Amino acid sequence: MNRLGILTSGGDAPGMNACIRAVVRHALNEGLEVMGIRRGYSGLLAGEVVKLNFRSVANIIQRGGTILETSRCADFLKPEGRRDAAVVLEQNGIDGLVIVGGDGSFRGASALMEETSTMVIGVPATIDNDVYGIDYTIGFDTAVNTAMEAIDKVRDTADAFERIFFVEVMGRDAGFIALQVAVAAGAAEVIVPEQKTDLDQLCRTLSDNFKRGKRSNIVVVAEGNKLGHSLQIAQYVENRLNTSCRACVLGHLQRGGAPTAKDRVLATRLGAAAVEGILKGKHGHMVGQRNGQVVYVPMRETWEKKKELAVHLFESLKVLGK
Ligand code: F6P
Repeated sequence: MNRLGILTSGGDAPGMNACIRAVVRHALNEGLEVMGIRRGYSGLLAGEVVKLNFRSVANIIQRGGTILETSRCADFLKPEGRRDAAVVLEQNGIDGLVIVGGDGSFRGASALMEETSTMVIGVPATIDNDVYGIDYTIGFDTAVNTAMEAIDKVRDTADAFERIFFVEVMGRDAGFIALQVAVAAGAAEVIVPEQKTDLDQLCRTLSDNFKRGKRSNIVVVAEGNKLGHSLQIAQYVENRLNTSCRACVLGHLQRGGAPTAKDRVLATRLGAAAVEGILKGKHGHMVGQRNGQVVYVPMRETWEKKKELAVHLFESLKVLGK
């Protein structure tokens, strides 16, 4: 292999830049040339390819977002789109490709590899943490910390008014952010897509909490939950308990900001392992960390298998959130 390409795809995640930096510098160190592809698969189709050197990735380890920019590209889902992409790769002499993104991006990458001769390797980066086979995706820790700090602030006003707050967090159709942040922020309850929530039971629990002298009740709501929007849930509980409820949607602020040390270190390690992996023939895999070790997971498993939530955290919440 002579020329390695790198692109970021799907929702940006804090730590993507740290990963780009690690990939570029490790690849250069191995004597490869590195090409950055702008705007994910959309940029690849449009031929937006730039040569990167050691200094191109200076001063980015601390920045959120992605210097390469990103996109969700419908055309790449089609075989014709991937054929066009292969042409661009060939024209630019790129024989290996590092995809930094989530399972949706790996799906496209895997198809590209099957249909063409491009060697691809994936690095998991999404705030959602919904990627099978590894402990954490790049960006998850930062998003959780951002949401936790926001909830710490919400709690001040919830406490002052003795209100119930429903704080809605991201995660698409997974509850990893919600569960982690609920424990970290000392929430009373959590509502996630993976578990059935009985709203009337929730009302009884919140009412009991008030009776026991708990002044502020924070309920963390995953955006993909099956009951509906946090505003609707807040309204229902307010009517039912005849007490003041508010909803607070944290939204995209969870995607921005400087990555935590944990995300920077994870991104740096995985960036290095991606270069090492692709040189050692681990293409068609995603590199990740499991129980502290670097692992290479077949890309296909990342969308065919489902990562489970840590059930023990629900038990903790039940005991501690009263
Ligand atoms: O996948 C990351 C994520 O932030 C999800 O948590 C969220 O559902 C989605 O992306 C939002 O996407 P968009 O930025 O396109 O609104």
